[in-house]
Amino acid sequence: MSKRERSSPSPQPEPKQRTTESNITGAYLWANKYGDPPGTIWSRETIAEASKLQASAHMWNDMRRLRPLANALPVIKDKFTAEEIPHLQQMTKDIEEEIERLNRLLGDFSEGGIYRVRDIFGEWHTFPFPEVRPRHKLIVRVLGVVAFSQNFDDNNDIKTDNPKQKCLYDLEPMPLSKHDLWRQCDTYETPPWEFWMHEWETGNFHLKRYVWRRNIQKPIGIDFVHEWRHIRELSADQRKDAKHWASHWKMLADRLRSYIKEHRERLKNVDKVICFALGPLHYGFSKCFVQHMAANTVREVLEELKKTKRTQKNIGVVAQDPAYCKHCAHVLQETLSIETTTDFEAFLEVGQNTFVITFAPSAPVCGIIADLTLEVGGPAAMLCDEIEDDYLRPEWDDTRWIDAEPTKNLVAYKRRCSIKEFGDTKDVMGMSYHEFMARYPIVPAELPHDTPNETEIWEEVKKVYSLSFKSNFHDIFLYVRKKSVAPTGSS
Ligand SMILES: C[S@@+](CC[C@H](N)C(=O)[O-])C[C@H]1O[C@@H](n2cnc3c(N)ncnc32)[C@H](O)[C@@H]1O
Repeated sequence: MSKRERSSPSPQPEPKQRTTESNITGAYLWANKYGDPPGTIWSRETIAEASKLQASAHMWNDMRRLRPLANALPVIKDKFTAEEIPHLQQMTKDIEEEIERLNRLLGDFSEGGIYRVRDIFGEWHTFPFPEVRPRHKLIVRVLGVVAFSQNFDDNNDIKTDNPKQKCLYDLEPMPLSKHDLWRQCDTYETPPWEFWMHEWETGNFHLKRYVWRRNIQKPIGIDFVHEWRHIRELSADQRKDAKHWASHWKMLADRLRSYIKEHRERLKNVDKVICFALGPLHYGFSKCFVQHMAANTVREVLEELKKTKRTQKNIGVVAQDPAYCKHCAHVLQETLSIETTTDFEAFLEVGQNTFVITFAPSAPVCGIIADLTLEVGGPAAMLCDEIEDDYLRPEWDDTRWIDAEPTKNLVAYKRRCSIKEFGDTKDVMGMSYHEFMARYPIVPAELPHDTPNETEIWEEVKKVYSLSFKSNFHDIFLYVRKKSVAPTGSS
């Protein structure tokens, strides 16, 4: 067995005395009795309804973003020439019309109004529209099994004091992200995507790699302008560094290609690649774009495996992340032919011939997929965070999860897979991300550095943290399904 291959996972976890708020056992007893199909927490109906609510939340967020723009003209008109004013007036009119259109579509779904959620028994509940503070937006949070299990009492019955305890998804206000505020994917002139694609493919850094940026004040809000400088102006050390990371990316692309080819027999029927939570793009921070390039590489190798002398099969790549903006969607389509979605529809597209890719999702992506595909034995493959075997652990250990939150069906899926370690944290830092988090739990900014001894530790931690940003795939594993159909009964 090669160093990166994993042996068979350990057997069913032993139940231990419950010492936390989480009643995972209760949640699975409920799932066996009421799940649709039995043994599942998330049903297709739940995800479809959560998706519709997410689509409404996006519309509402858009409307809220547009309102100040519609009112901006009187404030900013002094900054424009007389010839520019008619153009601005037209823009304002267009924005007002768009707000009206969104208002009509949203109906009661607005401040002072209501929204509806379908609970786990299929009953509908009406809740008052939440208060959303300035510089906040609305998102739909889908509960993971650990959070859901906290709604079960000591008799393993679901608590019913509050109808929200019977719901697996809800609307939640959250602060606007830097991406929402500054459109970090919207570069002014030469965007970095082409350079990064060149580096991923060839292992050589691109001669025109960017170096710096500056901020400018635009008439409406603050916007970033990004400028570029020729790589030759980099110091010798910076050049060495850039070369090193380009060859690291190429090594990862090659590792991915070889893993897929190794499983060619099992992956030959894959007909789509579906990605979750790869994150919005950022001109100065390559990680999310690198993860999308990995998805494109997966597609390319799968297409190559399917190609015969006479036919060329195209495999689509879809990426779901509520955080994409319209510009991210445009860039991903143009550069990597990746289609994007910001609601939850992609969950419903996953089938037994899907190759799933997800890294560090802030939603229970892998558990949802294991449930929605239970009857077909799970997707053909998943490239995702390490799946831990002990899905009951949160009942007796409430430390923070850094793996994909495991579920019973996800662990059962893992048992039907062959497993290869793909992540690059060991390559970059000489230890897994798991070990890194355990050894360096405190971020440099929170460490004292007054004495020489403290300063020495602080310097070391700073170095390790800055290296950790170079790792694009923390503790990521490839799970490839061996059998195509699930064993009957899931309990
Ligand atoms: C911690 S970030 C991970 C981003 C990137 N993959 C990385 O490794 O840094 C979590 C991502 O999950 C996304 N996310 C949250 N809910 C999601 C959902 N229901 N479907 C897909 N992505 C989701 C967030 O928008 C965010 O981009």
